[in-house]
Amino acid sequence: MNKQLTDRITFRHGATSNNRIVQAPMLTNSGEGDGFVTQDTIDYYAARSRSAGIVIVEYCYVSFAGGPSRSWADDRQQLGIYTDGHMEGLAKIARALKKDGNKALVQLAHAGRESNFRARQGHTVYAPSAFDFGFLDYEVEALADEDIERIIQDFGTATRRAIDCGFDGVEIHGANHYLLQQFFSAWSNRRDDRWGGSADRRMRFIVEVMRKVFDVIAEHAPDDFIIGYRISPEEVHGDHVGYSCDDSLKLIQTLTATFDFDYIHVSLPQYDARPKGSDRSFGELFGAVLPEQTKLIVVGNVMSEESARDALGHADLVAVGRATLIDPEFGSKLSEGRGQDIVREISPEQVKKSRLPPGLVNLFSDPNMHPSLPGRESIYHLHEGGSLDKSVLKDGTGSEYNLDDLK
Ligand SMILES: Cc1cc2nc3c(=O)[nH]c(=O)nc-3n(C[C@H](O)[C@H](O)[C@H](O)COP(=O)(O)O)c2cc1C
Repeated sequence: MNKQLTDRITFRHGATSNNRIVQAPMLTNSGEGDGFVTQDTIDYYAARSRSAGIVIVEYCYVSFAGGPSRSWADDRQQLGIYTDGHMEGLAKIARALKKDGNKALVQLAHAGRESNFRARQGHTVYAPSAFDFGFLDYEVEALADEDIERIIQDFGTATRRAIDCGFDGVEIHGANHYLLQQFFSAWSNRRDDRWGGSADRRMRFIVEVMRKVFDVIAEHAPDDFIIGYRISPEEVHGDHVGYSCDDSLKLIQTLTATFDFDYIHVSLPQYDARPKGSDRSFGELFGAVLPEQTKLIVVGNVMSEESARDALGHADLVAVGRATLIDPEFGSKLSEGRGQDIVREISPEQVKKSRLPPGLVNLFSDPNMHPSLPGRESIYHLHEGGSLDKSVLKDGTGSEYNLDDLK
């Protein structure tokens, strides 16, 4: 079958996306006061109701100790979903995103050791194992067994909140070095209890989180609620090997044999990237192990209609990140056959039109920011300075950050 970006896609539980474009989850740095949605957040998402068939709202932390990470000021924070009080703002986002008939999902996360803004706030930061990571400027504590059980419950409670807020689905964040990946990584997870050791034991936390999430969905969500999982396909940083692509393919085979995922989302810096020495892309490798009914999403450097079409050669759906920051009508322009009208460069005018929140303007007007936005020179004068956390620069691209760069 010849896939088209404009195809309508029906997921196994019955939900339909109006096209094959997905807006990738992206931290907007727009929350305040312990992860609460602001008007900036709502304006940004309201402007993106036509950016894709499915918009995945940025990662929200499910436990009090699960974030914030990557924030850079009290009024420029990551969003939380760890109390009922967070629901009012999140429900407004869901409503704003759905107003033109597209789907709104929210990404659920626990940052574990990467809760760097939490550390700056003076709170304890937790990880599967505590040791000298070499690239953190704060200490972490190892999670106790009862903390782990609590976090699994928190993923369930957060899923219930997402359902009650009116989201069409959730994506569980198993990528980009956050807690789920930290448990799966043999480098990060040095436990010798039931949560660590062999690959099967390192998978256990992820499997138990998913069991809880699927139970909550079965009990409380509409039948067509979408459930996806995001993974970084490998964790290889020189001599530090957390897991290989073969390991993550096995994890995905276990997860999809156990649970009815609507999709798996492979986090990549470049949509057609391949593991070293392989003649097949990560997308092709993951596609080959997925059950027929589970869709595959790839992401990474899709900046135009041409690259979106090319990326479809590697997956069922194509996620687009930075290009939707520049042009929030990326998906609708493709759907309407107006791909040539997609705005490809940021500019002071486009910052306003696309309702970029100050946190993102500051990030992308920094000449040191990588990955950058095309046209960034035109917004350097909007840079306010501030304490940018360098690690976001690498981590934003997916799994490829080099630990040596972060020392
Ligand atoms: C500003 C920014 C924030 C991001 N926040 C998240 C996030 O909340 N969750 C996540 O899984 N990935 C996050 N990412 C990674 C993106 O989802 C995406 O994988 C990456 O930007 C590559 O896609 P692109 O080349 O189309 O931008 C972020 C990336 C950027 C640039």
